[in-house]
Amino acid sequence: MNILLNLKHHSYKVHINELLRLEFKGKVALLTNAKVAGLHLQSLLSRLVCDELFVITIKDGEEFKNLKTLEDVLDQMFVSKLDRKSTLIAFGGGVVTDIGGFAASIYQRGIDFIAIPTTFLAMVDAAVGGKTGVNNAFGKNLIGSFYQPRGVYCESEFLKSLPSRELAAGMTEFIKMAACLDEKALELIESLDEQGFLSARLSKELWNELISKSVQLKASVVSIDERESQMRMLLNYGHSFAHIIENQTKYKLFLHGEAVAIGIVMANTLALRLGMITDNEFLRIKALLEKFKLPTHYKIANVDEFYQAFALDKKSVNSKMNFVLLDGIGKGVIRNDISKEAVISVLEEFKA
Ligand SMILES: NC(=O)c1ccc[n+]([C@@H]2O[C@H](COP(=O)([O-])OP(=O)(O)OC[C@H]3O[C@@H](n4cnc5c(N)ncnc54)[C@H](O)[C@@H]3O)[C@@H](O)[C@H]2O)c1
Ligand SMILES: [Zn+2]
Repeated sequence: MNILLNLKHHSYKVHINELLRLEFKGKVALLTNAKVAGLHLQSLLSRLVCDELFVITIKDGEEFKNLKTLEDVLDQMFVSKLDRKSTLIAFGGGVVTDIGGFAASIYQRGIDFIAIPTTFLAMVDAAVGGKTGVNNAFGKNLIGSFYQPRGVYCESEFLKSLPSRELAAGMTEFIKMAACLDEKALELIESLDEQGFLSARLSKELWNELISKSVQLKASVVSIDERESQMRMLLNYGHSFAHIIENQTKYKLFLHGEAVAIGIVMANTLALRLGMITDNEFLRIKALLEKFKLPTHYKIANVDEFYQAFALDKKSVNSKMNFVLLDGIGKGVIRNDISKEAVISVLEEFKA
């Protein structure tokens, strides 16, 4: 099955479990890392047909998602003499698809890009929607481009080797979209067999349903607001809080999706205090996160420090702080009128 991501200039399909054969006219560079290559490269190569193929590997980990790695990748693309008609395939998690998309967008001013995500997070979020980039000393994803792939191929068989923590972390991004956009999708996740999911042992039909639902939600947002002028900001639900938690714990304690799970609970605490959601709705989302063994609490050591960090977050536009909050289940809204006192009182609740 596939989902069309409808955009003004470059619509493309996200294919789910239908990668049988991929054929290219020119040269192809396949970007991956040693872990993913060791597990799944053979399976992918048996389905690729092209004139010449070059495999480029990068080091595994968020800490290598930087300009140095990007430059190495570009160098290898030049050594391989890729031309304007060549294609770059990114085969891996969100780190690989983010760097791959960026490299493809700037190599000789842009060559074709295909994403073959191998983590649940990358399938449901990172590889769909055209945001690419790397981190630098000033923060995460601060350098990059909007560059849409020609196509995205999600194969659930690749998920079988993914640790349960990584699967759960990806589920947070799905829960984020469902909570903000679509109560039916939330019900689908609520009814999901969590043991089957966390051990990547769902049926192909269920994977199709899960991945396609999530991709549909992301596609619906991106097709309206490709460059994040308004609606796409909803996808940052829970993220302002999460970025501060990730920063304070030096990106070591939590996976991104785990920090977002806590961020969602913090945002929901604020929405609850503002009367935007009920106690039941608050508990419903928290229970769903806990179902997937995601963390929902973080002890804030210094409330003032935590609050100040918001001001530095890149999502604060015109010095007004944007908060993505639920105004009921399935109804994410962007608010920039939240008082400092309201935020501080929520942060105080996380002191213990
Ligand atoms: N562009 C976007 O819109 C967007 C959205 C969300 C996240 N992101 C980015 O995505 C990144 C996070 O992505 P991620 O969670 O996929 O992390 P990741 O790419 O670091 O992958 C997580 C780990 O799983 C390994 N792995 C990948 N596939 C595997 C498989 N099939 N089996 C076993 N191990 C496998 C990886 O090598 C890595 O060690 C972040 O850099 C984030 O900024 C981008
Ligand atoms: Zn995220």
